[in-house]
Amino acid sequence: AASCSLIEPDGGKLVDLVAREGPAREALRREAARCPQIKLSRIDLEWVHVLSEGWASPLCGFMREAEFLQTLHFNCLRLGDGSIVNMSVPIVLAIDDAQKRAIGDRRRIALVDARDKLVAILSDIDIYKHNKEERIARTWGTRVPGLPYVEEAITNAGNWLIGGDLEVIERIKYNDGLDKYRLSPAELREEFSRRNADAVFAFQLRNPVHNGHALLMTDTRRRLLEMGCKNPILLLHPLGGYTKADDVPLHWRMKQHEKVLEDGVLNPETTVVAIFPSPMHYTSPTEVQWHAKSRINAGANFYIVGRDAAGMSHPIEKRDLYDADHGKKVLSMAPGLERLNILPFKVAAYDKKQKKMAFFDPSRHQDFLFISGTKMRTLAKNRENPPDGFMCPGGWEVLVEYYDSSAAP
Ligand code: ADX
Repeated sequence: AASCSLIEPDGGKLVDLVAREGPAREALRREAARCPQIKLSRIDLEWVHVLSEGWASPLCGFMREAEFLQTLHFNCLRLGDGSIVNMSVPIVLAIDDAQKRAIGDRRRIALVDARDKLVAILSDIDIYKHNKEERIARTWGTRVPGLPYVEEAITNAGNWLIGGDLEVIERIKYNDGLDKYRLSPAELREEFSRRNADAVFAFQLRNPVHNGHALLMTDTRRRLLEMGCKNPILLLHPLGGYTKADDVPLHWRMKQHEKVLEDGVLNPETTVVAIFPSPMHYTSPTEVQWHAKSRINAGANFYIVGRDAAGMSHPIEKRDLYDADHGKKVLSMAPGLERLNILPFKVAAYDKKQKKMAFFDPSRHQDFLFISGTKMRTLAKNRENPPDGFMCPGGWEVLVEYYDSSAAP
């Protein structure tokens, strides 16, 4: 009953595509064994995970052509009753000519993972042309070479897309020691209710938490308390799917986030740390909408957005790929996200006078130091320390350990 106070999922009902344990699951598995099979890449499997738990509610499977077109052209999906929900990134599955021929006129196909384990059935399928140029140009706003995700998942993908309704045999697990953090939207909602949250504010991230990030989160908490909230809960929600090669891998980030809570930068009593299973696109104004929309489904009614959210540097020019303010500007106006309270933040930087991270004040710009990801990497690699107050010592140690390991690029 307490969950009634949480924001409703998009479309009213949280999608759950995982078969119930028991006869239904076993029947699905037996049927899958007799269907034509499509092998999923790691990124495809991450999307199956996302869809299966309802992060993309009310979307019930890989996009059919109608949904794909709506996403590409409107960043929204129109529902049966005429209402719209936000849906800004295409969630699609590519197949090649040989796979298309093998499927023939079958209506149900099986999806298997890299080790040929049966994962799901896709039914009532729709196969349509994968115009990669159009998909990339509309999603990224550019076809410049060197775009992550595009290189990994689109350039060499098949010339067809296959959509349909998804039925997943069992919950997606990665067995990497982090599954306990992979709470579904339904589980997060339960957790927020259990904690009696009267507001949930989400923080999406794909980087280690520095004190500038922490400033955004603690400032939000303060504002919510001022507004009269009694028990605002923070969802610290690192992205767990595909990230580009020079981003810090998930298990190192999780270690780092643990230290941030241990060192008291964030309060464990009022923070839920969980993994968001989506892959990253790096399409800032387009992708922030997905990042926000999916958190509505997980029960968040406030969403923090700062500088260059979901952005990156241009692959070949010396500048950001997107305007660093467009993510937050677009988010505040995005159709289908009216129910979500967007909390836009200005850029935080290291204030040399106060010796801490603070909101940038252009009137005394010479007092501020911008410490980029690249700068952080260089410092950690050379075992140099960032200025005091940039990141908690425990968290920094984890980064030094990571950049010292052979895993680091
Ligand atoms: S993201 O791809 O997940 O958006 P990142 O992990 O770097 O990237 O950022 C998480 C959130 O913190 C985003 O909302 C981003 O805009 C914000 N952010 C990151 N660095 C700063 C900063 N220096 N000042 C203000 N906001 C920031």
